[in-house]
Amino acid sequence: MQGEDDTRALAQVAAGSPVGELLRRYWLPIAAAVELDERRIRPVRVLGEDLVLYKDGGGYGLVGRWCPHRQFDLSFATVEECGIRCSFHGWLFDAQGRCLEQPLEQAVHPESTFKDRVRTRAYPVQSKAGLLWAYLGPAPAPLLPDWAGFYSPGYTVVSLLHVPCNWVQIMEGFYDPVHVEWLHDRWSFHLNGRAVPARRPRHTAFRWLDFEYGVIFQRKLAGSDEWLADRTVLFPNVDAAGGQGWYLTWVVPVDDTHTILVYRLTLTSWKTPLGQVMVPASRRTQQTRVPAYRAHASLDAEAGPPEHFGSHLVSQDYASWLGPGPLVDRTREHLGETDRGILMFRRKLLEQARVVAEGGEPQAVIRDPQENHRITLPGARKGYGIRGEGLPGLTGEGDVMFRAFLPVGIPPEIRQEVEQAMSALVEGLRPDWWKRRAE
Ligand SMILES: [Fe+2]
Repeated sequence: MQGEDDTRALAQVAAGSPVGELLRRYWLPIAAAVELDERRIRPVRVLGEDLVLYKDGGGYGLVGRWCPHRQFDLSFATVEECGIRCSFHGWLFDAQGRCLEQPLEQAVHPESTFKDRVRTRAYPVQSKAGLLWAYLGPAPAPLLPDWAGFYSPGYTVVSLLHVPCNWVQIMEGFYDPVHVEWLHDRWSFHLNGRAVPARRPRHTAFRWLDFEYGVIFQRKLAGSDEWLADRTVLFPNVDAAGGQGWYLTWVVPVDDTHTILVYRLTLTSWKTPLGQVMVPASRRTQQTRVPAYRAHASLDAEAGPPEHFGSHLVSQDYASWLGPGPLVDRTREHLGETDRGILMFRRKLLEQARVVAEGGEPQAVIRDPQENHRITLPGARKGYGIRGEGLPGLTGEGDVMFRAFLPVGIPPEIRQEVEQAMSALVEGLRPDWWKRRAE
């Protein structure tokens, strides 16, 4: 059980709150790059701050949403070659938050320094790996991590899932991999009206091992004394799944009761008429555009589990995130063995928040350019997880990754684009070539 003060401290993400200040030490993905190609300015809410993100002739900008003049909503501003112009009275702002023009003021008072005395909030933005990243903390900004997985051969898709609950209760799912045995495995059988087979994997022990950027999870299953590695989690807000990096999920707090999960999935293998084929490194494409879509998680207990709970792994997690409400009351919990990872995470968040409050550098902030080059992560070489085999057709289908790892709702045109790209990548390859090489 967590005390009320800790519960509150864990939930808050605004500037000035302990965990809010901690989160401001990391680059956060706030949109997909393609979204700004489709619409050059859009509102963004992150860590409780209302901002607008735009793309002008010089690159990207991220500034306060409300015009300092009369609080006009700058989501409706016009993007110019350099900066954005408020549609209300034409004030022009650049990516540094400077006011460059005030048309009528300058016409009437050409010598006035009014515009030089007006500034708006502004944060740096970087484009990388198909995503746009923001840093909301004090200068100098650290380096944007260069994970090796960003270079996996295959085809990459991004999904941004809006979830109406606090970010910590979503992270806690990654620190509790025992839940796969129940939420994703057994429940899948029940959801599909199938009997749970007598012998399904069962956890007998688990442990977490520390490394530089986070932790890896290992489990023991009934009938074996071997530690099986499964999950890699990066501090403070990234799920790196098996550690290979072709599947990464950033948990980005919008505010205390809303979160966006940013999934970045590189499909590394594809089903052909002859069998599943891996994309070899030699066929790495220069994918210039990473397609992206948005989805919204919801849970309606009156209506019961919707159909996609029985076919999509990510959907099943909605129940664990949203079931306890937008902000779980941690004073009512009764924690036991399965929750050791969660307690470890909560302790670490508060401990690292203290490090920041005392002027220190928290874990996993990267500043050394030598270190920041295609960083590989420890984890499982192959999937030791329990993959919810109660889902119909989960094994061996060409669209297995969409169902297992991306939120429901992928638009048909993106699915088609991915299918065509993947078919082209694996064309002419023998289905078993990679198996022989791995042995
Ligand atoms: Fe899960």
